[in-house]
Amino acid sequence: MIEFNKPCYTGNEDQYVIEAMRSNHISGDGPFTLRCQEWFERFLGCPRALLTPSCTHALEMIAILLELKPGDEIIMPSFTFVSTANAFMVKGAKVVFVDIRPDTMNIDEKLIEQAITTRTRAIVAVHYAGVSCAMDEIMAIAQRHDLYVIEDAAQAIMNKHKGRTLGTIGHFATYSFHETKNITSGGEGGLLIINESKFVDRAEIIREKGTNRSQFFRGAIDKYTWVDVGSSYLPSDLQAAYLWGQLEVLTEICENRISSWDLYFKLLKELEEPECLELPKLPSDCTNNGHIFYLKTKDLEQRTALIKWLKLEDIAAVFHYVPLHSSPAGRKFSRFSGTDNFTSTDSERLVRLPIWHGISEDKIEKVSRIIREFYTQ
Ligand SMILES: Cc1ncc(COP(=O)(O)O)c(C=O)c1O
Repeated sequence: MIEFNKPCYTGNEDQYVIEAMRSNHISGDGPFTLRCQEWFERFLGCPRALLTPSCTHALEMIAILLELKPGDEIIMPSFTFVSTANAFMVKGAKVVFVDIRPDTMNIDEKLIEQAITTRTRAIVAVHYAGVSCAMDEIMAIAQRHDLYVIEDAAQAIMNKHKGRTLGTIGHFATYSFHETKNITSGGEGGLLIINESKFVDRAEIIREKGTNRSQFFRGAIDKYTWVDVGSSYLPSDLQAAYLWGQLEVLTEICENRISSWDLYFKLLKELEEPECLELPKLPSDCTNNGHIFYLKTKDLEQRTALIKWLKLEDIAAVFHYVPLHSSPAGRKFSRFSGTDNFTSTDSERLVRLPIWHGISEDKIEKVSRIIREFYTQ
């Protein structure tokens, strides 16, 4: 069996998880959480990076920070994970979908402006497969219309756009450390990145059940109390310890994934034929972190047949996302701005191949060979 994913595990995690287990602080904001957060703040050069139990929670915190009210509108692609939309809908906001570009499967920046209304508050730039959206154009639109930009960088750790690290460009950004991502904090986890200093104090309070306990722990005040709305958005320090074990070897983890990605690309390149079998496209100003290797088949029928063909050889290949605007909740709570030229057609053609940290070249060669047999049968 060639699985679709295996959670990243390097062995470097063990020592830190055991150290955390034996410490007197395994709840939130323990020593490993602080160590990870400091690491991210240095790496990103941002005013604050806060570990959260998931990327979904980090997005929800942004919805609270923006004080969204029912009827406020948030622009995003429909080709994304449900959390991108849900996090804002729980605050009553309306989601407005915009079509994607077929080359990167990211939101089409040229269509954003026509989706803006007087109720629009923010644009969510989802970096699909970790590859950057057209951030210069998106930031310029946001500035013209006084909107916030949130980078959903769930899949984009370590990637750059025009030399800038993803997660540092928008007003806010989020990473995911779910077990499917390049690095994980023991299965679930996320990061909220705050690039605007004015939001830092309130974010700490929201994360700590609406109290100013973070300031108390830093010795800035002598007792803590309830000061604002909030919830519990702290992961356990055991999760942070696991993550620390991976942060220490993050470059090696990503390099390993990129070489697997490159091997797929090399082996499948000869099969590429426009609109029949397409490989991922990497704009020249973007880097690749090897997070997802996908290909696009001719149509839905060919994709179904290919997935079945691979399954007969015990190879797990999967597809995503069913466009959110076509789902029951999407139909109820969202609006699609403009025409759906690529979201539905191209998501129906997309299939993801097995890739994880440490996948062997043999396995990649086997998957590629079976795909070649499918196309040359
Ligand atoms: C684009 C995107 N946004 C948000 C999420 C949610 O991440 P998490 O599972 O950490 O909440 C995911 C997870 O797959 C994702 O791919």
